[in-house]
Amino acid sequence: MIDFKADLAKLISVEDFQRRVDEAKPFVARAQQDDFGGWVDLPINYDKDEFARIKKAAERIQSDSDYLVCIGIGGSYLGHRAVIEALGGAKKTKILYAGNSLSPRELQKVQRELGDKDFSVNVISKSGTTTEPAVAFRIFKQMLIDKYGEAEAARRIYATTDANKGALHDEAVAKGYESFVVPDNIGGRYSVLTAVGLLAIAAAGVDIDALMDGAEEERAALISDGGLATEYAVARNILLESDYNIEILANFEPQFMYFNEWWKQLFGESEGKDHKGIFPASVIDSTDLHSMGQYIQEGRRNLFETFVEVKEEYDGVTVPELAENLDGLKYLEGKEMDYVNKTANAATREAHTAGGVPVLEVLMPKLDERSLGALIYFFEMSCALSGFCLGVNPFNQPGVEAYKTRMFELLGKPGYEK
Ligand code: PA5
Repeated sequence: MIDFKADLAKLISVEDFQRRVDEAKPFVARAQQDDFGGWVDLPINYDKDEFARIKKAAERIQSDSDYLVCIGIGGSYLGHRAVIEALGGAKKTKILYAGNSLSPRELQKVQRELGDKDFSVNVISKSGTTTEPAVAFRIFKQMLIDKYGEAEAARRIYATTDANKGALHDEAVAKGYESFVVPDNIGGRYSVLTAVGLLAIAAAGVDIDALMDGAEEERAALISDGGLATEYAVARNILLESDYNIEILANFEPQFMYFNEWWKQLFGESEGKDHKGIFPASVIDSTDLHSMGQYIQEGRRNLFETFVEVKEEYDGVTVPELAENLDGLKYLEGKEMDYVNKTANAATREAHTAGGVPVLEVLMPKLDERSLGALIYFFEMSCALSGFCLGVNPFNQPGVEAYKTRMFELLGKPGYEK
């Protein structure tokens, strides 16, 4: 289960904080009843037949493909990339990503990496019409056809899209691609535990049963009144009301880089609307202590930090013992690197707190599938509750359309002429 700690004594009394938490508790039921609240009960209410089909498809991909090219953007790729990379990368089929930009260089990089290796494609798009993945799909589909012929190419394409409509759905039906569903009642950024995320995660060799078990356990802890997710949601809003309008997700584990990206989309797209919201940023320390650390310690005081920490100790690398002490590291000899890293984390929290940066802590028991499933659910619930506290709809993203309309005008897409 996920733990959460906040010390907001300088901003609010314990009684007032508790009153705000009590006021936010009904938002759990509101999220559950929302047309886009399907993720709330997902860990106990998912399509078991499709789940079994995902595992079978993953086994097939592992047996016939060195690589799985995952084509999708935003909520259609960040979640699975976050999980796979947080766990240290693929152990079975390697995953490559395309369709999350329009850069030809990035595309060629993926093509170079594929070389003449065997590969399959998972194209993920709820609408089936998002330009970035649609263009990339065309390119990798053609590569599959050139390499394997039409029939085998179709066997190597897995489409994750709307159950009934859209260009990708229609193509999948016409060509006979194996298809998985993006549920109608779950938005992209809340969809990692659906087929959107699970096929790539399973193909990479990650235990998706354990991932779902962790989410189920966390749901059980939060479902009645939001538990610690409500406290985190309320704490964020109290900080925002005191003009702390930038939240930095901080952790000391480079493997979390894409988890941070997923978290930024989750909170940014959910709360940044109606000219409201906390701007979500992230750092990976110690790396970023040597780039962003100066600003965080002494820059404008409108930042707060949320540290994601793994409680379990990780043994495996110790500082070697040497006869001489030329590097002055004798005091660390024999110490676990994880101990040194956790100490740096504690020191950073203390220094930033002293520098006037409010610090929140989210603690996960281990860095494994189960804990990650729990962490994902914790943040999803916190985000929905926080959005409701803020007075916005945490499930829509109307602002994403603006650039698309202008891009279509400039590219001359039919129907978008000026
Ligand atoms: O969270 C979201 O809803 C978005 O990030 C979408 O996932 C993203 O825009 C891609 O859309 P689609 O899956 O329709 O291609």
